[in-house]
Amino acid sequence: MNRRRFSLPVLAALAAAGFLLAAGLLMARYEDRLYTDQQIKNTDEQAHILAASVAGAVAFEDARAAQEYIGALSANPELLAAGVYDGRGQRIAGFSRGGATLPSRPPTPGYGDGHIDVTVPVTQNGAALGTVFLSAAAEPLQRRIARYIGLVLLVTMGALVIAVLSISQSALARRADQLSVVNHRLQDEMTERARTEEALRQAHKMEAVGQLSGGIAHDFNNLIMIVKGNLRLLRKRLDANAEQPLHYIAAAEEALDRAAHLTQRILAFSRRQPLKPEPVRLSTLVADLGPLLHHSLGEAVETETQLDANWWIRCDVNQMENVILNLAINARDAMPEGGRLMISTHDLHLAVAPAGADDFKPGEYVALTLRDNGVGMSEEVKSRAVDPFFTTKPLGKGTGLGLSMSFGFVRQSGGHLVIASVPGQGSEITIYMPRAEGAA
Ligand SMILES: Nc1ncnc2c1ncn2[C@@H]1O[C@H](COP(=O)(O)OP(=O)(O)O)[C@@H](O)[C@H]1O
Ligand SMILES: [Mg+2]
Repeated sequence: MNRRRFSLPVLAALAAAGFLLAAGLLMARYEDRLYTDQQIKNTDEQAHILAASVAGAVAFEDARAAQEYIGALSANPELLAAGVYDGRGQRIAGFSRGGATLPSRPPTPGYGDGHIDVTVPVTQNGAALGTVFLSAAAEPLQRRIARYIGLVLLVTMGALVIAVLSISQSALARRADQLSVVNHRLQDEMTERARTEEALRQAHKMEAVGQLSGGIAHDFNNLIMIVKGNLRLLRKRLDANAEQPLHYIAAAEEALDRAAHLTQRILAFSRRQPLKPEPVRLSTLVADLGPLLHHSLGEAVETETQLDANWWIRCDVNQMENVILNLAINARDAMPEGGRLMISTHDLHLAVAPAGADDFKPGEYVALTLRDNGVGMSEEVKSRAVDPFFTTKPLGKGTGLGLSMSFGFVRQSGGHLVIASVPGQGSEITIYMPRAEGAA
């Protein structure tokens, strides 16, 4: 509707205006015709009366009597000329005024510019004796034109009002169209803004959690070091054959090592530990992880791999291994009765962002996908899965840190982590890592 010069209602209004105008002209013409017809009729009637009156005078060729009748008629100011003619066409009486010509022989009747000419035969007992002629003033041209113009003007104004109204109406409609376009854009912008704000909030939350857990992990690490140091001192003091106490000490040291490892992971999550990126092929990395994966997943999970990717990426290899392990263990937890886990890698040219990836740049990516046929995630779980400490697992089983740490690491390495899932059918977690230029 925007692009068309005239909209349908405007065209309709213009057509209506044109129609009205034409109708107005026709009406004016018709009215003029009626008026003239009336004038002709009046003049004709007067001529007939004159013809009847002068019949005797004509029969006796009494020019004086005829002139008297004519004189009586001249009192009518609309009469311009009148004449009485005998059987031979000779004028025997007449008058004219105002520059009108009185023909010497009976003229042909007619309706001319400014006057109406009428001739009527003078008869007695059916015999033609002569002719009378009357010329009456018709309505002057200017007055007729003025009448025309008055009527036409009225109709034109009406038509114009309609046209202007409809044009402004369609202009309004166009304006409303534009407004609604602007409105839509505004709405889109607002949605986009809300999304950005949500992402920012998420980032702030991660940051806060990271700082908090990082701080705790740091202090915790120091405490672990103190306990470890004391245990070492204790071991030195004990003599070598105190087998039982040494055994306890070894167990305590082992637990401390695990605790230290955990704090390292939390420190990595809170980015207090710098990443050590190096060139690596995701396919190789997954292949090397094979035995460990097998061991962690147990017998009930059948693993299948399809490692098509050849391109290199750059990332911290230890962290990436942790991510893959985390994702695999999540898949295992989603398939308590056992199932299939498919791990695949692909080289991809991506022009558009995969659904759910924020801040995405088109380009070459290596994709790593873990697909299970487990319980899947509801929309609610999916939307919160990467939140730190979000877990649906029972106390002591889940920490709720696996996905958030993986997400944080992948984003920090310039990649994307995307979750797709259908409740009851399974989940698919895909990591997109940018291809490393000239890494090989
Ligand atoms: N493959 C999966 N299938 C179904 N749900 C999953 C899967 N991976 C993660 N989730 C859901 O996301 C939540 C968070 O996962 P994660 O951050 O690894 O924490 P955790 O495994 O400790 O619960 C899980 O509790 C689970 O509800
Ligand atoms: Mg997990």
